[in-house]
Amino acid sequence: MSYVKQVDHNPDPDFTQPVEFLAIGIFQDKGLQESHHPVDLALGGLMSKVWERKDFQGKKGERLLLHYDGPLARVALIGLGQSDKFTSELARQAAGRAVGLAQKHRADGCTLLTFESDQPQSGFTQAITEGLILGSYRFTEYKKPADDEPELTSLILYGQAHQEELSRGIVLATAVCRTRDLQNHPANIMTPTRLAEEAQRIGEASNMKTTVMDRDGFTELGMGALAGVAAGSNQPPKFIVIEYSGGQAGDAPFALVGKGLTFDAGGISIKPSAKMDEMKFDMSGAATVLGIMEVVAQLQPRLNIVAAIPSTENLLGGSAQRPGDIVRAYNGKTIEILNTDAEGRLILADALAYVVDQHKPFAIIDFATLTGAVLITLGHRASGLLGNDDDLIAEVQRAAEKTGERVWQLPLWDEYSDDIKSKVADIKNIGDGRLAGTIAGAVFLKEFIGDTPWVHLDIAGTAWQGKDQPYAPGGGSGVAVRLIAQLLLDRVER
Ligand code: BES
Ligand code: MN
Ligand code: ZN
Repeated sequence: MSYVKQVDHNPDPDFTQPVEFLAIGIFQDKGLQESHHPVDLALGGLMSKVWERKDFQGKKGERLLLHYDGPLARVALIGLGQSDKFTSELARQAAGRAVGLAQKHRADGCTLLTFESDQPQSGFTQAITEGLILGSYRFTEYKKPADDEPELTSLILYGQAHQEELSRGIVLATAVCRTRDLQNHPANIMTPTRLAEEAQRIGEASNMKTTVMDRDGFTELGMGALAGVAAGSNQPPKFIVIEYSGGQAGDAPFALVGKGLTFDAGGISIKPSAKMDEMKFDMSGAATVLGIMEVVAQLQPRLNIVAAIPSTENLLGGSAQRPGDIVRAYNGKTIEILNTDAEGRLILADALAYVVDQHKPFAIIDFATLTGAVLITLGHRASGLLGNDDDLIAEVQRAAEKTGERVWQLPLWDEYSDDIKSKVADIKNIGDGRLAGTIAGAVFLKEFIGDTPWVHLDIAGTAWQGKDQPYAPGGGSGVAVRLIAQLLLDRVER
């Protein structure tokens, strides 16, 4: 098991009974609170002593493990920082850090005493639940832990908790963990075929239907841009569509589109070999879409959704497309390919145009590890957000506030579109040299959207992390699954 799929709840714990690993959050400005006293008592006053001696000060990110010869064998103190600055994201992080510490000390369970916050802001139970499950995630598929190493199998939340938030937190975090799995599998396993199988599995839920087109199918439909990228790969490419009908029949759907490049070598415009292995994460947009659909399958929100995933590899060889080639996309626009490594926008072009034409959505959000430039701009800490509709942009920003997944808007002024004009075709697939790379990618996509309200999330920096994070080990992060699931749920619940 690479993550714990359940969080149990005990509203009224008895601290005279054995608890293997108990984690307690402490605010810097509050110290020991009411709910901590029974624990302090069970520890013979150890907690208050540690606090008085300032061995633990409750600073954000601070952790201290206490050992005690009694039923509470190990108690982890987790710093929560200043109580007036506490947010649900900090709650999520603290819960993640608690689980991380339990795992580091080979505990097979982690029990967390819920935080006694002054701001009973709704969403805390959900955030804590998510932090616990997400923090337990490890990718152990190909390297099982040694036999004598106990695995973390239980997560328990002690104290007052909001039941509905707890169950929702489980659904969301589990979907994120599944997305991380899809991301972390190497490209020889997570092929377009495998992504299509995952989509078929999700599509078995009620109100869902998955359709998968192969090379001949989408080529006949006119998807010349996807076909061009796929030309150099022997892995059968797929164009995957999942339709969810939770709303009224005939109501326009919300559309989700994800870049499913299972490996991006750059094509004939080959990438440098250093860190090229990271390009197995180039299907993260697709993984995000599948994670969101996983949540949708379980929570069955009352709206219609269509999800589209163009999936292929970008390799090189005798049949690969060349720089200078011109292809025709689904909407008839011709594209001059000046760099075969700018392939994400090509496969998305066909997917976006197809979804707009076939499904007439009222809004589209696409997810793509589209540009290295977004890493230069925002690092691993925020996704690039671009779009043509202020309301939809604001809606994504509001959801991001709630889920703690940072987004940052970049402009899409008309002038930028001049940068993708081609001398020989309608447009070219790169912008003005290395300038404004993330915007160049987005203005290219805009050519395939028409007037539909649309947001593009460039997740090249956030989809995977180089280092361990408070509630995610390095590797696939599952970014934007909670974000967009939250947005969709808020839409039907308001
Ligand atoms: N998949 C890459 C973007 C990427 C780079 C993701 C680094 C994660 C980390 C994308 O297909 C790509 O190669 N983009 C090029 C575009 C350029 C050729 C216009 C890039 O950003 O260098
Ligand atoms: Mn590329
Ligand atoms: Zn790519």
